Amino acid sequence: MKILFFSAKPYDIQFFNKHNKTFGFELDYLETHLGPHIVNAVNEHTYAVCVFVNDKLTIEVITTLATKGVKVIALRCAGFNNVQLETARKLGIRVCRVPAYSPEAVAEHAVAMLLTLNRKTHKAYNRVREQNYSLNGLLGFNLHGKTVGVIGTGKIGKAFCKIMLGFGCKVMAFDPVVDETLRAAGVSYGTFEDVISSADIISLHCPLTADNHHLVNREVIALMKKGVTLINTSRGGLINTEDVITGLKARNIGYLGIDVYEQEEKLFFKDLSGTIIDDDTIQRLTGFPNVLVTGHQGFFTEEALDQIAEITLTSIDQLSKGAEPDAAVMLV
Ligand code: NAI
Repeated sequence: MKILFFSAKPYDIQFFNKHNKTFGFELDYLETHLGPHIVNAVNEHTYAVCVFVNDKLTIEVITTLATKGVKVIALRCAGFNNVQLETARKLGIRVCRVPAYSPEAVAEHAVAMLLTLNRKTHKAYNRVREQNYSLNGLLGFNLHGKTVGVIGTGKIGKAFCKIMLGFGCKVMAFDPVVDETLRAAGVSYGTFEDVISSADIISLHCPLTADNHHLVNREVIALMKKGVTLINTSRGGLINTEDVITGLKARNIGYLGIDVYEQEEKLFFKDLSGTIIDDDTIQRLTGFPNVLVTGHQGFFTEEALDQIAEITLTSIDQLSKGAEPDAAVMLV
């Protein structure tokens, strides 16, 4: 029984091959993303296609998959905005995903970004390699005692709150759903405006929805403390990048750490080191000394990749045997 992978990277191959020892599927890996240009690579022996965030499962692509007899679309990620679920439903293709994988991985990456920006370890690393032991320009601040504002206290936000409580921070949060265990642990919930205006450090951990696109915009930045540190490991569309650049230039935003970016689709997960980048906004961002950009690597730990491979192959195995996987895993 064949599973055809799209957008496959060496680390996908490593972790899926490892877990496939339990299942014994035939695994075929393609580096290219799935789209109309390649859909004919799928043949009648393909039981499932396994895809990632930038594969395009349009009506046309899913219709071709159905014609070829594909039974399952397996997303090796949580988000599914790139899949026409209705078409899959109509054509009888099951769609599964990995709803959660190591929330601690993303929370710890947010903390890593915060500490890098604050203590400037990225600069120290380069300086010391050139035998420059000067401390000028490396001045940081204590996290202990600072107010951290957390927007969204689901799985990742909760893990982040716990770490920040451990640092001795005052943690305030906004989420339409209050987590009583966090409240008992010392997190105080407030309105979005309360949290945004009181925090020295703000970290975004809510999903991107139609209602919160550009949640952080010019008006919201105006409410923030001068010199605030803003961390976004959730989705690029949560912040209006142009407004944030204005905030940085005005020195209202003191530090910015982003693992996600509005236009990341054209950049992230690719080596563009020999390419002239057309996107002036990312070039402007990376030109600031107080901005740290990482390429959507929050999830990228061994533990998370293990879980992604195991959950994906388990779901496909269950479906192939006529069993129903966990409801949280199934989209269609
Ligand atoms: P989750 O579903 O467990 O929690 C999301 C929380 O946000 C919920 O408690 C919900 O009530 C709250 N929420 C929804 N809208 C809100 C709003 N407008 N303001 C404040 N809170 C709001 O999700 P989880 O697993 O914690 O993931 C959070 C986000 O992290 C994902 O939606 C995804 O965008 C991002 N993510 C990033 C990764 C990376 O590698 N950088 C990897 C995985 C997820």
